[in-house]
Amino acid sequence: MINRVDMLADIQEVLVTEEAIAARIAEVGRQISEDYRGKCPIVVGVLKGVVPFFAAMTQAITIPIQEDFMSVTSFEGGTESTGKLTFRKDIDHDIAGRDVLILEDILDSGRTLKMIVELFERRGPRSVKICTLLDKPTGRTEDLAADYVLFTVPDAFVVGFGLDYQDYYRNLPFVGVLKPEVYRT
Ligand code: IMP
Ligand code: MG
Repeated sequence: MINRVDMLADIQEVLVTEEAIAARIAEVGRQISEDYRGKCPIVVGVLKGVVPFFAAMTQAITIPIQEDFMSVTSFEGGTESTGKLTFRKDIDHDIAGRDVLILEDILDSGRTLKMIVELFERRGPRSVKICTLLDKPTGRTEDLAADYVLFTVPDAFVVGFGLDYQDYYRNLPFVGVLKPEVYRT
């Protein structure tokens, strides 16, 4: 276990401020409310990184929705996707005939979301769409694009607003680049 006494000291650069996140969530919330008017989608959050984003995003959606969560992991605590995916928790709802909107913290290689989308598609939903807080297109190995992207980030390991390194930094209210020396030591 590392003892992170000063989270801010470990941040190299702030990429997305708290204010920018709030403004963009309001904007995309309006868009989603318009796009799904009359549909009552099931909004599925991918734990744990989505928690702050899920809380803010769902409140910015003004139409009725149902909420659900699933837990998958593709990281073993490092900064590179291992490619080995484990399902930890499935959703509770039956999604047959339903409109599903998946909320994710970051779309990197695309492996996690691709696996979730493929699993959901086999259950006969009416539609499956993806809304991601961050998109890191340089990391992509799968042919997958999000339907709603709040911010595009460069090829760097980022933390904050739910994103973690070894479960640390999730509680930072902004998104920043983690100093490489933090994970190289
Ligand atoms: P993917 O399967 O490679 O698209 O990875 C998605 C998951 O990897 C995300 O849900 C994050 O948990 C994690 N991840 C990818 N890039 C980063 C990053 O820059 N910082 C923190 N977590 C990341
Ligand atoms: Mg993570």
